Amino acid sequence: MLTRRSTRQELLAAIHTVAQPLEESGRMQQTKQLMQHGDCSVFEHCANVAYVSCVLFMKLHIDADWEELIRGALLHDYFLYDWHKKEDCHPAHPVYHPTLALKNARMDYELSAKEEDIILHHMFPLTVLPPKSREAWMVCLADKICAVMETFGKVCVRQ
Ligand SMILES: [Fe+2]
Ligand SMILES: [Fe+2]
Repeated sequence: MLTRRSTRQELLAAIHTVAQPLEESGRMQQTKQLMQHGDCSVFEHCANVAYVSCVLFMKLHIDADWEELIRGALLHDYFLYDWHKKEDCHPAHPVYHPTLALKNARMDYELSAKEEDIILHHMFPLTVLPPKSREAWMVCLADKICAVMETFGKVCVRQ
């Protein structure tokens, strides 16, 4: 897997390797059709969050559980509806969607405790409980960075 000194190419390859089995089962393909910010799909947004989370760990020279970090990031917005459409969107989407993403991800995949933590707490401080692991804290931060980047058309990982 990755180390603190991995290259961009190695990081992109690692994200692809972790994403592949998720794409081949469950409902991950749906996230490629749903839009998140700007012209970025939910799948691309999640791949961006995985990428930025890993880069932040590398820049800080801290080791992470890379596979769980990437897997959790790829599933953190697995809520599976178009939040831009009033009729599809849950009225409390910002607060509610991590719970729904976790419920959907549990239905489709086997999750570790850390992956569940990443999904459930990524909207902190909007959600009351904070992340428990450093990987979940980093995804929480990377999610906010990526939301701003994507709104301005900056994307790190294209599907
Ligand atoms: Fe989210
Ligand atoms: Fe997100």
